[in-house]
Amino acid sequence: MCKYTLAFAISLVLLSSTVWAQKDAVDAEGHPWWKHAVFYEIYPRSFADSNNDGIGDLPGINSKLDYLHWLGADAIWIAPMFPSPQVDWGYDVSDFYNVNPDYGTLKDMDELLAQGKKKDIRVLLDFVMTYTSDQNKWFQEAKSSKTNPKRDWFIWHDGKGAGQPPNNWTSNFGGSAWKYSPETSQWYYHYFYPPQPNLNWRNPEVEKNMFDVTRWWYKRGVAGFRLDAVDVMYVDAQLKDNPVVGTEKNAFGDPVENEINDKNQPELHGVLQRLRKVADEYNAVLIGETWTSDIDQLKAYYGAHNDEVNMPMNFMFANVNKLSPPDFRKQIQWVEGSGGWPVYVLSNHDIRRVYDRYGDGQHNDQIAKLMASLYLTLRGTAVMYYGEEIGMENNDPKRPEDVKDSMGKVGWPTQKGRDGERTPMQWTAETNAGFSTVAPWLPVDERYKTYNVESEKRDANSILNYYHQLLSLRHTNQVLLDGKYTALNESDSNVLSYARSYKGKSVLVVLNMSDTTRKVSLNLASSDAHTKKAATLLASFPAASQVDIGEISVAPFGAWIGETE
Ligand code: NOJ
Ligand code: CA
Repeated sequence: MCKYTLAFAISLVLLSSTVWAQKDAVDAEGHPWWKHAVFYEIYPRSFADSNNDGIGDLPGINSKLDYLHWLGADAIWIAPMFPSPQVDWGYDVSDFYNVNPDYGTLKDMDELLAQGKKKDIRVLLDFVMTYTSDQNKWFQEAKSSKTNPKRDWFIWHDGKGAGQPPNNWTSNFGGSAWKYSPETSQWYYHYFYPPQPNLNWRNPEVEKNMFDVTRWWYKRGVAGFRLDAVDVMYVDAQLKDNPVVGTEKNAFGDPVENEINDKNQPELHGVLQRLRKVADEYNAVLIGETWTSDIDQLKAYYGAHNDEVNMPMNFMFANVNKLSPPDFRKQIQWVEGSGGWPVYVLSNHDIRRVYDRYGDGQHNDQIAKLMASLYLTLRGTAVMYYGEEIGMENNDPKRPEDVKDSMGKVGWPTQKGRDGERTPMQWTAETNAGFSTVAPWLPVDERYKTYNVESEKRDANSILNYYHQLLSLRHTNQVLLDGKYTALNESDSNVLSYARSYKGKSVLVVLNMSDTTRKVSLNLASSDAHTKKAATLLASFPAASQVDIGEISVAPFGAWIGETE
């Protein structure tokens, strides 16, 4: 065998060992792996810095796989780690086939995939499918001339007149959604920052090339993708203006528009169906960044035959910004009735952290445990955000000169951007929270001496140990994995209660969303549970090991989880 053939054969063996086999795709009960998995989002710049340059990286993530396994994460979704000028911190991809040198190399990625496979942790990447960076070679070619073969990979148009963009669409990050390109005297479309030109998905070559990106990563062992900004993948073919609503301005000072022509165009579902077919060939899963305003929109993302996004994230649930049992009940009921597998998320790199969003400033630790008990005991898949398990809170920039997120630079002071929810993970009570020996790219939250992995592991009552117990319970209790959901005590506006039932057994969950102790008498008539007594499985406050379901005493913001006997 010549040395090149040998090298090729060795690399194939190495790569194929990171690919998940068909037998790993379905559990003993016949469920696809992702239905019972707990996903954990990692913002790579902020998770762990292996070479002490102040920036998190892939070897850093690799060094924390044992922690993630201990915690109970089955899969990690890494926010974009591709080469990028970092105008939008990675969501401006200049090369879909490589790793940003800030984060390591392709070899580091292969090593992470291999170690993940060994430790039973799947790795998902972020598929930024709607736009590229203006530094991407595809766009560089496209902008060079009107006749360039890549020209039609992006969306170009003449202006309405001198200095006038083609229509009134505004960018999500402020200003017109069109940028003039002097090379060809035309404008290109960007829903987000000007350096993020939108791809033209009406061009079949774009679809082919972008689908090939996913195939290339699946073959390396990637277990799926989180699909970025799917709702703005297509725009109206005639580029019709959006209607302007009222006279008010948004946080960027732009008119408020009803986005009927630059969002949610029906063609996007065809792409999602075809993308799903590719994913299915690799037993991979697609998670959708699916912002929706009602349940019908969410249903559409599952696909008429559950043939689009496996896991459309339900942000309507994350948007219940208050401790309101009736609001949560309604949200759960909606998703339960959607026919799709529910996907629960509370926060991410774009959404303020749970700890202070729901916290009242006094009982935040209790409330952190309460919120975990809610979304980790519901029927469905949960997507966690790094650091929520230790009670990290938003650490927002105090001065405009400190802002790193362009959204905050443009919008300051009404819109401070998203740096606050992206600060370094807190590992220890040492300098820089053990994230790095040098000053990290964003400042560490000053509470890190108490709220960090090492200290919390030692404290039996910590938020971290609560998550650990809750996730162990979730993984081992068949009723929590498969049981159907039934709302209980539906008229209670302070306490959210429900039963999960499976094969004659039930788990009862009682969540006190108020600041006083509540005595709850569970009415099980609507459920499959028949019992007078229940055994405590886990509680966030000192609870008796056996309780009378006619009188369960739940501490302020307390969570109680029990099983029928
Ligand atoms: C969605 C990502 O989650 C967000 O962080 C990013 O700014 C936008 N896409 C635009 O790229
Ligand atoms: Ca680093």
